[in-house]
Amino acid sequence: MNTPWAEQVVGWSADEAEVLSECVHRAPPVHTTRPWQLEFADRTAVLRERRDVPPPPHDPEGRDRKIACGAALTNLVAAVRGLGWAADMDIAVSADGAVTASVTGPRRSRASDSEAHRFRAIGDRRVHEWAFGPRPVPPEDLEAVRDVAASPAVGAWWVGGGAEALGVARLLDYAARAYHANLDYQRELTMWTTRRVDGAVGLSAGGAARVRVPDEFQLAARIEREAVLVLATRTDGPESQVRAGEAVQAAWLEATTRGLAASLVTQPLHLSEVRTGLADRLDRPGVPQALMRFGHPAAIPAARPGDD
Ligand SMILES: Cc1cc2nc3c(=O)[nH]c(=O)nc-3n(C[C@H](O)[C@H](O)[C@H](O)COP(=O)(O)O)c2cc1C
Repeated sequence: MNTPWAEQVVGWSADEAEVLSECVHRAPPVHTTRPWQLEFADRTAVLRERRDVPPPPHDPEGRDRKIACGAALTNLVAAVRGLGWAADMDIAVSADGAVTASVTGPRRSRASDSEAHRFRAIGDRRVHEWAFGPRPVPPEDLEAVRDVAASPAVGAWWVGGGAEALGVARLLDYAARAYHANLDYQRELTMWTTRRVDGAVGLSAGGAARVRVPDEFQLAARIEREAVLVLATRTDGPESQVRAGEAVQAAWLEATTRGLAASLVTQPLHLSEVRTGLADRLDRPGVPQALMRFGHPAAIPAARPGDD
């Protein structure tokens, strides 16, 4: 008999597969690399970590690759739910540490309102690497973003107060010295403390050299004014890193539904002493995997010809 439920026993339709592929493609890349591939088998979508792209020198363990796969997995699950299917998920790690995540949609299940909002947010997610505008993130948004990120595997908390902000800033400054030859990281810190001028799209490495990289006190002042989320896992290793990536993207999508932009900072946490230092200074358990900044983007109007 040809009922709608017959869909349960056939594979994803071509339209569904296209939506799932598009949503996975819209997960944040690591620089320009999307270190995963997506395959379909019956009612299962299989996300495999790509191991053919060697990690950059500042990430010898390939931590970002796993976090990126986790973020792509969140989009995949959000898309399966958004299409109105239950999402059964499984993460497997092979003996050589490669991650494969499978998501099966075995039966119809209507998405909740918040799941539907996060599904729609996949295409609207925005990165904002400059200093955020002065409007604070409302407490209810802070709570909602933290709540979707936290799980039994992942702890999520906001950096709070001047002492914590200075502790984080000192570690970022330490990483800036450890990565002194890495202009991308210097540029990232410079943008963090610089309000974007209308029309500017980014800061070139040369621009970062001209604009002084902030010292730890400037960074601390900025962190104290912003909403900076720390994501830490109970243990370390491939599955934990994937779980951290899921949390990153869940927080990012929730923030998007609330009109916020974000940026993701993992590079300093590739240094083990920064990971342990952060857990110590914030007096929190677990292994910090990512920092995320959230806020309202705001630009300074560009000077017009004739302006002083
Ligand atoms: C796992 C992971 C780690 C990242 N770490 C950093 C980082 O440390 N610093 C940074 O500036 N961007 C970082 N990014 C951001 C991306 O490289 C990318 O520039 C950003 O997401 C913009 O792409 P989008 O507009 O598609 O999101 C990271 C992204 C991923 C997936």
